[in-house]
Amino acid sequence: MLRLVTVLLTLIIASTGLASTIKAKELIESKVENLLSKMTLEEKIGQLVQYSGTELTGPQGQSINAASLVKKGKIGSFLNITGVENTEAIQKIAVEQSRLKIPLLFGLDVIHGYKTIFPVPLATASSWDPQMLEKIEQISADEATASGVTWAFSPMVNVARDPRWGRVVEGYGEDTYLTTQMALAVVRGLQGDSLANKNTILACIKHYVAYALVQAGREYWTVTVSERDLWTIYMPAYKAAVDAGVGSIMPAFTSVNAVPMTANKKLVHDILKEEWGFNGIAVSDWNAVLELIPHGVAKDAYQCAELAMDAGVDIDMVSGAYDYQLPKLIKDNKITMKQLDDAVTRVLRKKFELGLFKNPYLYNDLSREKETILSNSNLKESRKAAQRSMVLLKNNNNLLPLSKRIKRIAVIGPLADDKNNPLGPWSAKGVHNSAISVLQGIKDSVSAGTQVLYAKGCNINDHNKKMFEAAVNTAYKSDIVIAVVGESADMSGEAASRADIDLPGVQKDLLKALYNTGVPVVAVLMNGRPLTINWTKNYIPAILETWFLGSEAGNAIADVIFGDYNPSGKLPITFPYCVGQIPIYYNYKQSGRPETLANAPLKYESKYIDIPNTPLFPFGYGLSYTTFDYSNITLTKDKIKPNENLTVKIEVTNTGKVKGIETVQLYIHDRVASVTHPVKVLKGFKKIFLKPGNSKIVTFKIKPSDLELYNQEMKKVVEPGIFDVYIGTNSVDVKSASFEVVE
Ligand code: BGC
Repeated sequence: MLRLVTVLLTLIIASTGLASTIKAKELIESKVENLLSKMTLEEKIGQLVQYSGTELTGPQGQSINAASLVKKGKIGSFLNITGVENTEAIQKIAVEQSRLKIPLLFGLDVIHGYKTIFPVPLATASSWDPQMLEKIEQISADEATASGVTWAFSPMVNVARDPRWGRVVEGYGEDTYLTTQMALAVVRGLQGDSLANKNTILACIKHYVAYALVQAGREYWTVTVSERDLWTIYMPAYKAAVDAGVGSIMPAFTSVNAVPMTANKKLVHDILKEEWGFNGIAVSDWNAVLELIPHGVAKDAYQCAELAMDAGVDIDMVSGAYDYQLPKLIKDNKITMKQLDDAVTRVLRKKFELGLFKNPYLYNDLSREKETILSNSNLKESRKAAQRSMVLLKNNNNLLPLSKRIKRIAVIGPLADDKNNPLGPWSAKGVHNSAISVLQGIKDSVSAGTQVLYAKGCNINDHNKKMFEAAVNTAYKSDIVIAVVGESADMSGEAASRADIDLPGVQKDLLKALYNTGVPVVAVLMNGRPLTINWTKNYIPAILETWFLGSEAGNAIADVIFGDYNPSGKLPITFPYCVGQIPIYYNYKQSGRPETLANAPLKYESKYIDIPNTPLFPFGYGLSYTTFDYSNITLTKDKIKPNENLTVKIEVTNTGKVKGIETVQLYIHDRVASVTHPVKVLKGFKKIFLKPGNSKIVTFKIKPSDLELYNQEMKKVVEPGIFDVYIGTNSVDVKSASFEVVE
């Protein structure tokens, strides 16, 4: 019997192609082992050393003689060296002049595009469209690899609930499920089916873990997180990406519960590597190994390198601590040969998987570089992605879309004629001033008879109103004002925390002045985080959130303004009413004294006495030029066992006049559990396209894993009791049904 099972299993494995994958993996492992056995101590350490090329993306690192170090096998990878010619020149030294001819890796922050720039991650998160994201990440990988880059430090999967932190722009918002879906899409897009293909690139999930919880939203500050939140909210995206085969991970700069992540043996070595079986590379963040000194956990570079290596950080990005200290640490027996070999094995494994030993010049093809980068089809995809990433926040009396035959349009504001800020804060090799501005996009869209007027109004951070008069006069001459306001790209991203997240400078006053002309105003927002735009929400009749949309920003914005694209984005993050509400998020817990919202509210409730509890715009929110009606929510069963599935259905109808895309959102609420539980948690979403008058039945399968929680013993369980199912157009406007889990 046993033999029969074995034979059958062998047959199944062989027929599915699994056998060849297993064989290829085994082959790589034996090649790595063989190479490792030939390496000197110096050469091994070299594989763990990473230095930066010409550009610096952090504080000044070590100054080095790259060619001579590469020749000696003392560098294993670089970041910030790009372009076929540059990467080839140094790769040539590695594979033709070093003793063991080990090829180099070239890393870069390919966050939302290489040279064709796509919308920033917070914007693509607003699309709720993982397929689209996967597609544009494929393009990013194609462009970057065509330019010699083999390693993208992306995606950032830090679930973020504090918009003061500038890096919210780099992630996929406040929700674990949405972030996880987007993270998986990026990993699939970048790494493809096989790293050995010339257009796939090593991905890197970062910054492990809970970085977004920096206290008070202040960059690089300390992080405190409960065990429950860590496992429920912050770890799942990393775990999912590891299970999906992501090739590398970057521990965060920050400390978590008093242990800097670069020295966090429990989270990096024990959990990530041992428990989860991650076999890729853990690369430190920029200079983070040496920063263990100011963190106050190491007294010198020697101890920094010891702590980081012992924690399981394989590569030291730019600090030089491994380069200088590891030889002595090995000699002193502070780091064992086994630890060193494990780290080197991880680096070599990825180099083999990328096909670099077979052909170190695989990514150095000049004609491919010319053809691939900034191609028309890539720009077309960027425009499509930008269209899908905008969120229509307000549209009183269907002010939008505008007719292309309108007589006079005033395009006003500090970002209206801007070709650089739309590229966003992490625009890799995006060419300065290369984005299509909103002004240009509008000019190119309107009919020949339309006059497009422009006035700047103010600069982004101005504190004077010198240019207001000209702007107001321009508005008076027009039938409509498009006011393009917001942040500059460098006001979000790394090292860009803000305590006041309103429109910067005098931009709110500019909006007021334009509003006072009586000419209808459409606010087009460009920003890298939710803003506290309370006045704007109350007075400006139409508001379009565009984030930073990349190369084709102006064209895509014009597509929405004139109705060539019906906006379909939904907020991946809550907009607070004011900074005092932060952190504010949709999946909050009730407390023992929830707000009753009664006519005569009670004093002793969980609320503020001066501001509402509710946000300006909730998670999942976004309007369309049409309307969608939700009806007939039904469950296939009203009672299930803890290990059973059930299905929920809802009918969605386009009740408006134009075709549109809707994102149908599924939330679940555990009514009574052994631990306090959020009011609702996102567990699924589906995008549907509907013509006017048409309906679709949308179906979700609810699985036991959707009902699980960590109980008081931190065990994942499904607890019996009643669960509410909510389905709707955002996290607030939902239809509900309920079912019971019975033992
Ligand atoms: C950032 C990382 C980035 C690295 C390399 C650091 O400052 O925190 O996200 O990958 O620089 O540029």
